Amino acid sequence: MSIDKIISLCKRRGFVFQSSEIYGGFGAVYDYGPLGTALKNNISQMWWQAMTQFHENIVGIDSGILMHPKIWEASGHVDAFNDPLVDCKQCKARYPADELFDGNPEDGEWDNIQCPKCGTTGNLTEPRQFNLMFKTHIGPVQKDANVAYLRPETAQGIYVNYLLTQNAMRLKIPFGIAQIGKAFRNEIIARNFIFRTREFEQLEMQYFVKPGNDDQSMRDWKNERIAFYSQLGIDSGKLRLQEHGADELAHYAKEAWDIEFEFPFGWSEIEGIHNRTDFDLARHQEFSGKKMEVFDQEANEHYLPYIIETSAGLNRMLLAVLSEAYWEDNENNRIVMKFHPQIAPVTAAVCPLVKKDGLPEMGRKVMDIVKPHFKVIYDQQGSIGKRYYRQDEAGTPYGITIDHQSLEDKTVTLRHRDSQQQDRVAIDQLVSAINDSMEHYT
Ligand code: GAP
Repeated sequence: MSIDKIISLCKRRGFVFQSSEIYGGFGAVYDYGPLGTALKNNISQMWWQAMTQFHENIVGIDSGILMHPKIWEASGHVDAFNDPLVDCKQCKARYPADELFDGNPEDGEWDNIQCPKCGTTGNLTEPRQFNLMFKTHIGPVQKDANVAYLRPETAQGIYVNYLLTQNAMRLKIPFGIAQIGKAFRNEIIARNFIFRTREFEQLEMQYFVKPGNDDQSMRDWKNERIAFYSQLGIDSGKLRLQEHGADELAHYAKEAWDIEFEFPFGWSEIEGIHNRTDFDLARHQEFSGKKMEVFDQEANEHYLPYIIETSAGLNRMLLAVLSEAYWEDNENNRIVMKFHPQIAPVTAAVCPLVKKDGLPEMGRKVMDIVKPHFKVIYDQQGSIGKRYYRQDEAGTPYGITIDHQSLEDKTVTLRHRDSQQQDRVAIDQLVSAINDSMEHYT
């Protein structure tokens, strides 16, 4: 299945739009329409719940996108968050160096490489480091002293607040701090729809442990995180854990694993799990001059905790959910987004069979009954078959149809999206019938 089919459905049904489309688009930024926003919120809520509700020792915070610029010096992002780039002097095309050359080229080797765009040889520059952070200035004067960065990861907002959070919530090691928020990277090659963009959302959790307990904690979080994806309706056969080789590790990591999903364009990372040791806290201690240690009463000692980080991209999770859900039901000539009902943007569509005979009025009453429990929409436009198919593409798992029999016996039909099976259900049993079906969905 090609990613283009998903992109086209996303536009048609209001999941994802290209940013600034009326101006010809804006590179590597996307906007989310009504269904995409609802789906994204449902996914992030599920993650938030898994972290902060199912773990008594994990709390959530929300730090600023703009922070003190020293944070990014301490974290190593000013010096080390770079992509080596190569320019073609002839046609001005720009490439990440690793796209043109495997490994580390010897001096002068670039002279023998052909530019893929203009085909000339000998015009490529040596690789130059390009920092991925977006720079801005605070206040009206654009001078070096006023530089600030849009955060390239949410993690640092947790590190600089971790002692305040620990004290406020009386937390003891091990404990975690979770955060959902936007991050920004000036990606040179942005590709694959919402997979790699310049503005994206991260779901990050930093788990503070005693040094020595970090390897076990890493194992526990790897298992827990990969299991989480079944709640999003993702088949475990399309997920795998891949360890980073020593030459791939980020500047802060002692050990790192990626959770990869089999996207339509191949296996790619959705989430990283990193053992960041005490790298970040030690650096903040050094750069701020403030103690970042905790006190262990039993051992009567101060120490810097190690940090196990789970860092997922919300937009990549969404793309994985969209890819997994997309189903061409050729037998019935329809496209169905088979979202798990717990995360579907809309749970049910209420459809009066015809726009007369008191059916719309009854439909409105059914809406009032179901609305407090689920996200429901009212749809009376077009033939019932067209309405069902429209909702199938939107991934709405249930259709509630009010027909003439409903007027007589106060029942409706409950249509199940995947099987198209229809059950007759008493209106006063509708909420529990939907709840029951959602609970047993496979
Ligand atoms: N705090 C650690 C960190 O940021 P990362 O591996 O650079 O680690 C974590 O990023 C996750 O953020 C990735 O697994 C991915 O899901 C998401 N992500 C990173 N860059 C992205 C981009 N340009 N567009 C969309 N998502 C991105």
